[in-house]
Amino acid sequence: MTADITLVDKVIVVTGASRGIGAAIATAAANVGASVVLASRKQEGLDAVAEQIRAQGGIALPIATHTGQPKAVDALFEAVIGEFGAVHGLVNNAATNVYFGPLLGIDEAAWDKTFEVNVKGYFNAARAFATRTKGGSIVNIASISGMRAAPLQGVYGMTKAAVISMTQSLAVELGPGNIRVNAIAPGLVETRFAQSLVDDDEMRKHFVDRTALGRHGQPDEIAGAAVYLLSEAASYMTGQVMVLDGGMTAT
Ligand SMILES: NC(=O)c1ccc[n+]([C@@H]2O[C@H](COP(=O)([O-])OP(=O)(O)OC[C@H]3O[C@@H](n4cnc5c(N)ncnc54)[C@H](OP(=O)(O)O)[C@@H]3O)[C@@H](O)[C@H]2O)c1
Repeated sequence: MTADITLVDKVIVVTGASRGIGAAIATAAANVGASVVLASRKQEGLDAVAEQIRAQGGIALPIATHTGQPKAVDALFEAVIGEFGAVHGLVNNAATNVYFGPLLGIDEAAWDKTFEVNVKGYFNAARAFATRTKGGSIVNIASISGMRAAPLQGVYGMTKAAVISMTQSLAVELGPGNIRVNAIAPGLVETRFAQSLVDDDEMRKHFVDRTALGRHGQPDEIAGAAVYLLSEAASYMTGQVMVLDGGMTAT
């Protein structure tokens, strides 16, 4: 038993690792010794993050993968086992939000896309991981939008609520196999995903005014929690949601 936060000798798959929160988590995991597998749709962005990790002495393998496609996700995990012989951690982080507006106004294509990536994609990766690992940790990146009303982002919020439910059910079902499953619920974090909210003075103020810290977050501020949950320091924690929102939900 150890309280050290280390991922030495661990192989960790991070989806959506080409930028934003996923890139920050992959970099932080590599910094504490993990071999990281970076997955998202576009190879170019993954290669750039992998190059930065390698430049700092880390081990990174970038593999282009659409997480909404079960066959592609299986091929990803087969490649991971082929390269490293084992897999110990999964960060389900790749998500999308294609519609911004009143809930009743969403069309079927936008609904399907959001659920395909945010719910089916997380499930595809969780199953591919759980059937190949001999024990480990899954970290699902949810959102505070899944914990309460998400005006103008209602379907996105529904998918994040589903991620929290998936986290709890998988934690119970996979616990006996020594697989822990936890979620992180960030508040507003400055990434391309949230750029329109951060850049819009009125929107940013709407979010930031409700935080205790009086500001939005940066991707690096989410990475430490993910590394903790992946590590043995969190060995007795499963089925939980860590909220990292500058205190927004505490006010
Ligand atoms: N930023 C926030 O304020 C905030 C708040 C709460 C929760 N979150 C959550 O944090 C996570 C990361 O978001 P972010 O803000 O870092 O977003 P981001 O900067 O837009 O990054 C999204 C990542 O997901 C990948 N991706 C998108 N669709 C994919 C697909 N079908 N298959 C594989 N990869 C895909 C993208 O790469 P490709 O384009 O190459 O596929 C990219 O690497 C998401 O789960 C999001 O819901 C964000």
